[in-house]
Amino acid sequence: MEKNTINLRLADLRKSKHITQSELAEKVGTSFQTISKWENGITMPDVTVLPILASFFEVSVDELLGLKPLKGEVYSVEKTDSDEFWNKHMEYLLRSKNENWNIDYLDFLVNKVWKIDKPVNVLDCGCGYSHLSVMLMPLLPDGSSYTGIDFSSELTKKAEIFVKNNNINGKIIKGDFLESDFRNEFDVVICQSVLRHIGNPMKFVSKMIAATKENGLVICIDTNREIECRGLYIDGMDYGELCDHSGAIKHWNAEITNNKRDYAAAMRNAYIMRELGLHNIDIRMNDKVSFVCPEQEDYETKVCDFIETKSLWYEDKDEAIERLVNHGMTKIEAERYVGKSEKICNYLKKHKDEVAFTNFKGKTITFGWKRRV
Ligand SMILES: C[S@@+](CC[C@H](N)C(=O)[O-])C[C@H]1O[C@@H](n2cnc3c(N)ncnc32)[C@H](O)[C@@H]1O
Repeated sequence: MEKNTINLRLADLRKSKHITQSELAEKVGTSFQTISKWENGITMPDVTVLPILASFFEVSVDELLGLKPLKGEVYSVEKTDSDEFWNKHMEYLLRSKNENWNIDYLDFLVNKVWKIDKPVNVLDCGCGYSHLSVMLMPLLPDGSSYTGIDFSSELTKKAEIFVKNNNINGKIIKGDFLESDFRNEFDVVICQSVLRHIGNPMKFVSKMIAATKENGLVICIDTNREIECRGLYIDGMDYGELCDHSGAIKHWNAEITNNKRDYAAAMRNAYIMRELGLHNIDIRMNDKVSFVCPEQEDYETKVCDFIETKSLWYEDKDEAIERLVNHGMTKIEAERYVGKSEKICNYLKKHKDEVAFTNFKGKTITFGWKRRV
């Protein structure tokens, strides 16, 4: 274990117990000067003293050494089910749009899987800036219409312009879908990349079902983080290392516990639909796999988008490591995770205009009908 992976939490623990260095010294049978040296990182407690200190503070040795977050340590929740959060994420949505779909596959779903052969009215719940409208609507029979709802004021402003400029027959509503009151109004009710971010996917899907007409279709599209992490290949880099996201599961589980944000939402949508009584439920997987190579005209933009949307660049590495530790990773895992991102960025920079890479998102499309079809 490298020395810098240890972050002795002695001072934090002592202060939380409201005791002085002298009082602690007395409890563990040493001098206050020694405690001061330990707290300031000048020397380290002997291994035989670690269990004594850990037991005194009622923490594990890992927690004492800062290899695990302390219990109850503040977990900063990202409010991903709020409009404030998404107001600031337009850039992210715009930059990640290229990874979403192959139009021919969406066409296949519309015509061969969902067999939509009559005009339909579509409700896109949590529509963002309504990127889905430009892909989906041209594939639907003439006379179809689109309604997008989202609670982000910034995104709905952009969506209105987007729908107008792309001559989509549709409208945008700014509002909280969970508070909406649509009843049996739409033939197709869809959401893309919403359930993964919200605390109560069951309620969201039940609202979607309520908004659907009796014979209508409900579709939920989400990405599985585990598959997404494994779906990265960078020519010339060690694939084993790229695949190694150990610690991430603890981070994602901490997200579920603290933020009710489910990294495996994509895998669970069918079960939610089943519980809510939808019929003929099925799951497809999006066939989009991004392949980026220097021969492509927009190569540079795609590399920048990739670095941005994967959040590979950390302004403050130490702060990022601390945040990941507070979100459940051990210090070693957090350092490895942040170190890997840094390595990828540096590699792409060093081999500018040379490197090809593949990025597979693992997006599932889960759907079911309100009545048996
Ligand atoms: C990751 S974005 C996806 C946007 C869009 N569906 C897309 O695929 O580009 C999630 C969106 O869900 C919206 N959202 C989340 N909960 C919502 C709610 N209760 N009512 C309306 N919009 C919501 C957010 O504002 C955000 O625009």
